[in-house]
Amino acid sequence: MSDKFHKIYQQSIDNPENFWAEAANDVFWFKKPTKILNKSNPPFYKWFEDGVTNTCYNALDIHIDNGHGDKTALIYDSPITGNKSQFTFKELRQKVSKFAGALKNQGVQKGDRVIIYMPMIPEAVVAMLACARIGAIHSVVFGGFASNELASRIDDSKAKVLITASCGFEPGRTVEYKPLVDAAILQAKHKIDKLILFQRPGHEVKLNAPKEISFDEAMANAAETDCVEMNSNEYAYILYTSGTTGTPKGIVRDIGGHIVALKWTMKNIYNIDIDDVWWSASDIGWIVGHSYIVYAPLFKGCTTVLFEGKPVGTPDAGVFWKIISEYKVKSLFTAPTAFRAIKKEDPEGKFFSKYDLSNFKSLFLAGERADPDTIKWAENLLKVPVIDHWWQTETSWAISSNCTGIEMMKTKYGSACKAVPGYDVKIIKPDQSLAKPNEMGDVVVKLPLPPGTFPTLWNADQRYKENYMTNYEGYYQTYDAGHIDEDGYIWIMSRTDDIINVAGHRLSTGAIEEVLSEHQSVAECAVLGIADKLKGQLPIGLIVLKSGVDKDHATISKECVQMVRDKIGPVAAFKVAIVIKRLPKTRSGKILRGTIRKIADNEKFNIPPTIDDPAILNEIKQDLIKHQILNNG
Ligand code: COA
Ligand code: AMP
Repeated sequence: MSDKFHKIYQQSIDNPENFWAEAANDVFWFKKPTKILNKSNPPFYKWFEDGVTNTCYNALDIHIDNGHGDKTALIYDSPITGNKSQFTFKELRQKVSKFAGALKNQGVQKGDRVIIYMPMIPEAVVAMLACARIGAIHSVVFGGFASNELASRIDDSKAKVLITASCGFEPGRTVEYKPLVDAAILQAKHKIDKLILFQRPGHEVKLNAPKEISFDEAMANAAETDCVEMNSNEYAYILYTSGTTGTPKGIVRDIGGHIVALKWTMKNIYNIDIDDVWWSASDIGWIVGHSYIVYAPLFKGCTTVLFEGKPVGTPDAGVFWKIISEYKVKSLFTAPTAFRAIKKEDPEGKFFSKYDLSNFKSLFLAGERADPDTIKWAENLLKVPVIDHWWQTETSWAISSNCTGIEMMKTKYGSACKAVPGYDVKIIKPDQSLAKPNEMGDVVVKLPLPPGTFPTLWNADQRYKENYMTNYEGYYQTYDAGHIDEDGYIWIMSRTDDIINVAGHRLSTGAIEEVLSEHQSVAECAVLGIADKLKGQLPIGLIVLKSGVDKDHATISKECVQMVRDKIGPVAAFKVAIVIKRLPKTRSGKILRGTIRKIADNEKFNIPPTIDDPAILNEIKQDLIKHQILNNG
């Protein structure tokens, strides 16, 4: 390890309280914390327990207090609609404080939950910050999820208000949110009090007063509202993420730790200063969007770009370069799949040569493993460091990365670099012993986790403890498998649960199986993620029919695909369900998903000794060949 980085990293591990107390000096507190870490009730740790602050104050007001009110806070660029706008910190605060007043007028109080189901428009950012301003807990739901997923989040969070827009735009299709929201509201057992809907110009929809009100109307009668004082351990937001079942897990974020950690990352990991322009090409519905479109850059006081478009097709594979060049973006953060999409459309980088990217200094990739080919292609084209870093919704910021603001380290292709200060990462082998360098095992992080990570799950302390903190006592189980090499570089190779990663989106195969099982002809099924050149992984479904079903297989497959789209959403990218005779199982009845995946990906596999009937494996292989699924990556 290099000296400077090593020294800082070691300080964070040897004395986390000193380390984070110092980082906490860089944020605004109504009351500065004196108790840095409460370790009395593991695994429930509390950072900055007696601190009092406000997320929105740290995102907006503090910069105005410091004389930067006229600096650009947010750049909105929507190649999909042709709209662009910019907001200074003062302008953004004015909108946010008014919308905070609007939320209050609709009965939202500190601690109430507010669901935000919106496209990538400034009003979505305004809604998030307005919640923070008055101490409401937002729960943003990604626009590509269907009503069913939205309903489960309404029920679990018991939201008081839902904020949406009349529509979103995907290439070639308008996403009409109102019918999706209506269906979710109808389906949810918990009833929300109010719906606030932003009418996108030219796409207005009918609202039913008094329960439904437009965003503009709500704003019109609202007064600007100040930040409320929040205890550090109250919650900023809930973000639901895929668990191993269809019931999503509500990751919660406490307020003080979130501000301290995220602000620290902007300089130390990303080397971003206050005058820089930063762009995270993700979606506010994901953790990357929460942390790096909205919160971290605004805590830092730099300029953040909100992009409503895709890496390709809006209108072409040059749009990323256009944005970087037009706004003098210093660093971009996106998922490898976005670069794979650009590489596929424009392998020689013809679009790239049209733009001046002299301000561009680094590209950060996360959300899935960055394949060395894509990294090398991007490095060759961009001539800047391309950094793969690893993190999760649970942590909200990188567990491992090249900390470019501390010291640039060398790249090892395929590795997500070293543990970031705050994270004591270890590899544990199946026999529970600690792995030696290069030995594979479960990737775990020694407790306590640093600030900004998840202190628990929403209303589910027990699930938090059992799911994450029990298998390896004293450690957080990441559910990723990998190894650490002799230089301390971390190699994340796969998930150890049934989560798959489709275009950087985290999906549960268990949740898809639950949907397929509801089809009246389906007796049993298995869903697995197979390798895909563009999206990393794609889910495929193998279904076994109930005896006596004589319906056409193609019809059943089509119905299954539609059910997943309707119940989980288009984001699942579930396009293939094939009917097979039987599933390979162990003698105890466990479906051998891992073995099927290896067959599909044309990887070597051993015939599991516990298999019920090895002949089924060949049957499956023939089925996959017949449906042209074999080795599609
Ligand atoms: N609202 C509604 N629908 C959405 C949506 C949203 N916000 N985002 C995606 N969808 C839909 C898409 O329209 C598509 O629907 P379709 O089946 O009708 O075509 C489906 O969900 C799958 O979308 P996506 O995974 O985006 O695939 P794509 O083929 O449209 O685009 C990429 C492929 C690689 C260009 C795209 O996945 C991408 O830009 N990825 C970037 C990764 C990213 O932002 N990850 C977030 C974590 S960092
Ligand atoms: P999410 O919670 O949606 O951010 O997904 C987190 C999961 O994505 C991790 O547990 C990993 O499985 C995967 N992941 C994220 N970043 C990386 C990376 N850089 N390398 C490998 N896997 C990654």
